[in-house]
Amino acid sequence: MRYSPTTPLTLLLITLAAALPSTPTPPTTQCTDAKILKALAGTYTLLNTSSTLNNTPIPDLPYGSNPVGLLIYTATGWMSATITATEPSLRPALTFPFQPNDTDADWALVGKHSIGYAGPLRVSRDVVGNETVGQLFHGPLVVANVPTWVGANQRRNYSVVEREEEGGVVRYLRIGSERGGGYRGVLWWRKVA
Ligand SMILES: *[C@@H]1O[C@H](CO)[C@@H](O)[C@H](O)[C@H]1NC(C)=O
Ligand SMILES: *[C@@H]1O[C@H](CO)[C@@H](O)[C@H](O)[C@H]1NC(C)=O
Ligand SMILES: *[C@@H]1O[C@H](CO)[C@@H](O)[C@H](O)[C@H]1NC(C)=O
Ligand SMILES: *[C@@H]1O[C@H](CO)[C@@H](O)[C@H](O)[C@H]1NC(C)=O
Repeated sequence: MRYSPTTPLTLLLITLAAALPSTPTPPTTQCTDAKILKALAGTYTLLNTSSTLNNTPIPDLPYGSNPVGLLIYTATGWMSATITATEPSLRPALTFPFQPNDTDADWALVGKHSIGYAGPLRVSRDVVGNETVGQLFHGPLVVANVPTWVGANQRRNYSVVEREEEGGVVRYLRIGSERGGGYRGVLWWRKVA
C-alpha cells in the first residue's frame, strides 16, 4: 500500500515534529564546508575546561585548575591545539632538549599535564551544521604528543557565541568532546585573532 501525504500516519508524524522542544535546535540545512571553516577560522585562547564522567562533573586532572591553551583553525582546513596545566607543582622547570640528569618523574608530570596536536580540520556529516552550530573532526591527526592520537579523528561539537562586552563584540567558541569511556569535556575559547 502507498501512503499519500494525508494518511493519518503522515499527519501524526507532522504533529509530533511540530511538538518537539525547540532547544537545542540543530540547524535544518547543511551549510557548505567552506563557509563553516571560514566562519570558524581564527586563533583562540583557552578560557576554561570542565569534565564529566557519565554526566557527573569530575575534576579536570590533566589540565589542572588554570590551564593555558591556544587553538588555531584555518579556513583551508587545518588545526592545531596546545594545552598545558600551569600549576608549578605540575610544571617542573625542565628545559629542551632533555638533559642527562633530568628525572623521568619530572618529565612524566609534564607529559601527563600537557597536550599538543595538529592536523586536518574537517566538517562532520553526522549532524547538520552551519556557521554557528555543528560538528567537526580534528584529524586524521598528523602530529600528537600522545602516541595513540596520531592518525586519530577526534569528534568535536562546536557552537559560536557572540557577546557584547566593553570594547565590542567578543566571539567565543564552545567545544564539546567525547573522550570515550563515558568521559566528556567542554572547553571554552575566546577568539583573539
Ligand atoms: C545555525 O543553526 C542554529 C540552530 O538552528 C541557529 O540558531 C543559528 O542561527 C544558525 N546560524 C546561522 C549562521 O545560520
Ligand atoms: C567558561 O567560560 C565561558 C565564557 O566566558 C562561560 O560562559 C562559562 O560559564 C565558563 N564555564 C566555567 C565552567 O567556568
Ligand atoms: C643538571 O646539570 C646541569 C648542568 O650540569 C645543572 O645546571 C643542573 O642544576 C642539574 N640539574 C639537576 C636537577 O641536578
Ligand atoms: C555532540 O552533538 C551530538 C549531536 O547533537 C550529541 O549527540 C552529542 O551528545 C554531543 N556531544 C558532546 C560531547 O557535546
